[in-house]
Amino acid sequence: MGSELTFRGGHEAQPASDSYSPKLPKRWASVTRPIGYLLREQRLIFVLVGIAIATVGFTLLPSSRPSYGHGHNLISNEYVRYDFESSSSTHKPVHERRFGLTNYNSGGKVPLGLKRKGLRIVVTGGAGFVGSHLVDRLMQRGDSVIVVDNFFTGRKENVQHHFGNPRFELIRHDVVEPLLLEVDQIYHLACPASPVHYKFNPTNVVGTLNMLGLAKRVGARFLLTSTSEVYGDPLQHPQVETYWGNVNPIGVRSCYDEGKRTAETLTMDYHRGAGVEVRIARIFNTYGPRMCIDDGRVVSNFVAQALRKEPMTVYGDGKQTRSFQYVSDLVDGLMRLMEGEHVGPFNLGNPGEFTMLELAKVVQETIDKDAKIEFRPNTEDDPHKRKPDITKAKDLLGWQPQVSLRKGLPLMVSDFSKRIFGDHKEAAGATTTM
Ligand SMILES: NC(=O)c1ccc[n+]([C@@H]2O[C@H](COP(=O)([O-])OP(=O)(O)OC[C@H]3O[C@@H](n4cnc5c(N)ncnc54)[C@H](O)[C@@H]3O)[C@@H](O)[C@H]2O)c1
Repeated sequence: MGSELTFRGGHEAQPASDSYSPKLPKRWASVTRPIGYLLREQRLIFVLVGIAIATVGFTLLPSSRPSYGHGHNLISNEYVRYDFESSSSTHKPVHERRFGLTNYNSGGKVPLGLKRKGLRIVVTGGAGFVGSHLVDRLMQRGDSVIVVDNFFTGRKENVQHHFGNPRFELIRHDVVEPLLLEVDQIYHLACPASPVHYKFNPTNVVGTLNMLGLAKRVGARFLLTSTSEVYGDPLQHPQVETYWGNVNPIGVRSCYDEGKRTAETLTMDYHRGAGVEVRIARIFNTYGPRMCIDDGRVVSNFVAQALRKEPMTVYGDGKQTRSFQYVSDLVDGLMRLMEGEHVGPFNLGNPGEFTMLELAKVVQETIDKDAKIEFRPNTEDDPHKRKPDITKAKDLLGWQPQVSLRKGLPLMVSDFSKRIFGDHKEAAGATTTM
């Protein structure tokens, strides 16, 4: 058959018999024959050797340092600042080691020219006050963010500046119902946080259980936003994480306080029993732009009242103390905790302690010198004092608040005045920027 095809062209195609040499000289045959045989019969070996060489090459070559997402570092400079300033860097958060602000190498070697993908993160309660600021920072970092919110106290306006971004999704969903999503991390914030709201909608236990179930199913890391309320009316001051608290189990605030305590228990049970990677933050009073107006929390109450020229309502004698943390400090702490290697619980709060009367004075200085104060009988189970001991967060997360009340309050006031007196569009985009 072969010879037929070769000679179909007739005699002109046939090489001249004197120049035709069908075989190579014998001295080359000893070399070419085995090579030819190997090429023909041992192709698989060559393929395997090729793969091995390529693997060694990729492993030994220094990996590229891809930009995270769209050219942003994993943590913005604002996040890095504290570590550069802090004297002790022995406890660098894992996100610096894992994602490497100086030596970026997350998720193994990334071949040259390939961009590393951001994380897929779900933020329950992401349309709320704290959640929306957290979403801003995660988006800024280059991650893909899914907000799950039923808008009980949250607002679409808080996240609408991300609409249209392909890395952002918003799902209207109540976390008391199960949900399946493929994600790497879960920040679980969904829960009404103010007394006005949580008395009507206690979602802590079932919502947390569902989100822990999701974390277990998809192997995601889970962060619970617990609260300083787990310390109740504390008998120890300031509060350290090892303090077990003094909580009334049957009072009007119990659905929140005990709900969060149960949420912590469930979180630790899933960690110990099902190997879920968990993190627990105990958040102390936080304030800032996008807080619900008139939700009964003291800072938002005072600011809204002073702006409206109404008297500021002080419950009891006004000598009870609280600490006030600006929201950007909290978001920084939450992200460090999530990326770090420690489960917690960690107190995240500003240790600066103010009485209610002192707070009212700062609000007067910031908004209206002539703002009046009105005293009313105290509410049931109102804690007498609250102040976080943040030694653990300082040592293990390299975190401490940066924004004082006098610096943070004006930022909140400008957001509130826009929302109270109009220009809602501008207010919705209000950020934590100093
Ligand atoms: N802000 C603080 O001072 C403070 C203090 C301690 C703890 N925390 C905790 O931080 C988290 C966020 O608090 P925040 O101040 O942003 O409150 P927020 O009320 O502004 O936000 C809570 C968000 O959760 C959503 N939500 C409530 N129930 C839900 C449900 N069943 N399903 C889906 N979404 C639901 C709300 O619509 C809202 O968007 C809460 O878990 C709160 O307990 C906050």
